[in-house]
Amino acid sequence: MTTLSASGPPAIDPSGLTTADIDRLRAETPGSMRVPHFNNAGSALPPQVVVNTMIEHLMREAEIGGYEAHAEASDRLANVYASCGALIGAGAQSIALTTSATDSWLRGFLSIPLAEGDRILVAQAEYASNVLAVLAAARRAGAIVEAIPDNASGILDVEAMRSMLDERVKVVSITHAPSQNGLLNPAEEIGAALRDTGSTAWYLLDACQSVGQMPLDASAIGADFISATGRKFLRGPRGTGFLWASPRALELEPALIDLNSAEWTDLDDYRIAPGATRFESWEKSYAAMLGMGAAANYALSLGLDVTQARITWLADRIRAELSQIPDVQVRDRGQVRTGIVTFSTSRRAAADVVAAIKASGVNVSYSPPDYALRDFRAHGVTGLVRASPHVFTNDHDIDRLLDAVREAVA
Ligand SMILES: Cc1ncc(COP(=O)(O)O)c(C=O)c1O
Repeated sequence: MTTLSASGPPAIDPSGLTTADIDRLRAETPGSMRVPHFNNAGSALPPQVVVNTMIEHLMREAEIGGYEAHAEASDRLANVYASCGALIGAGAQSIALTTSATDSWLRGFLSIPLAEGDRILVAQAEYASNVLAVLAAARRAGAIVEAIPDNASGILDVEAMRSMLDERVKVVSITHAPSQNGLLNPAEEIGAALRDTGSTAWYLLDACQSVGQMPLDASAIGADFISATGRKFLRGPRGTGFLWASPRALELEPALIDLNSAEWTDLDDYRIAPGATRFESWEKSYAAMLGMGAAANYALSLGLDVTQARITWLADRIRAELSQIPDVQVRDRGQVRTGIVTFSTSRRAAADVVAAIKASGVNVSYSPPDYALRDFRAHGVTGLVRASPHVFTNDHDIDRLLDAVREAVA
């Protein structure tokens, strides 16, 4: 069994979930019985209800036709918007359904008009796909990309951001919970700083790793766009995501237009759809969307505060144990930590450690530098092992992980 140091996290799970609750959560998650899965930040194990929801819809498509099954499920599909909105304290009208976090983020970002000389600020720990799109858009428009430095605790320095703001700053793009570190950037403080300074910059929050992991409140954050994915801590299917748009963002003309996002009103005229569906394409996998809705309902019924308390506690226990292993260095920064645990060792390359842990039957993942080049370079890291537990993770899983790590770095 795991033994915890005296200064480590509390011995009792602060989420209030009992051993019987965890057993139930595991029974509802068939994958948890097969493999210690510490890759929930990659793609989480879904509850059975998500899988059943998708299969049932696929069966109806096969039995009565895709469009007919869509019409039959129209009320349940409308609820998917409401359920995704509820994850971030928002209404259905402000939600667009997409295929991934990147798809969501791009639909927001590319709709923002940029001009020569505009400044785009990104977090140091910003995710690669966002930075690549920013770099490409800046090249096209003649805009300038600048990174907001981290503070001494290793998260975004809000005061430094404040001092960078001027009327030329058009976009501020922040990754809330970076994929490659257990830190959590201060999304609400960033929004408040933008408001206080009277900045008109568009604020994009990449909440890919935080949606489904913790309670979020879109209006308290004060962003213009919040992007999310279905398959990570939310435990939905692959190929799903959603975008939240603020009232101001709902006045933007979307970069991508089809007959879902606009109506063809005259031979050379069109009207953009009201609400966030203006950022959504017509064709989608309705089975997958219903699956994401089922995942959102499952998360809401468990409680996002309960989920966060348990995941954080599990992650802190893993960090405490890892730091007892000789030559293993936990890399997570900041005071507030997420369910993403990252570490490396001077004894072996991170990619080799990941391969060895996986060979022993435990799922972890490898974070290479090009997932967040600026962050890796700033901290002199060449690769990381990532372990991300979820609510269904139990002591046995943690023991398997720690044994595998000890063996891999011995
Ligand atoms: C912080 C962050 N943002 C965005 C993404 C991209 O998500 P998706 O693959 O759903 O586009 C990831 C994926 O790992 C991520 O960790």
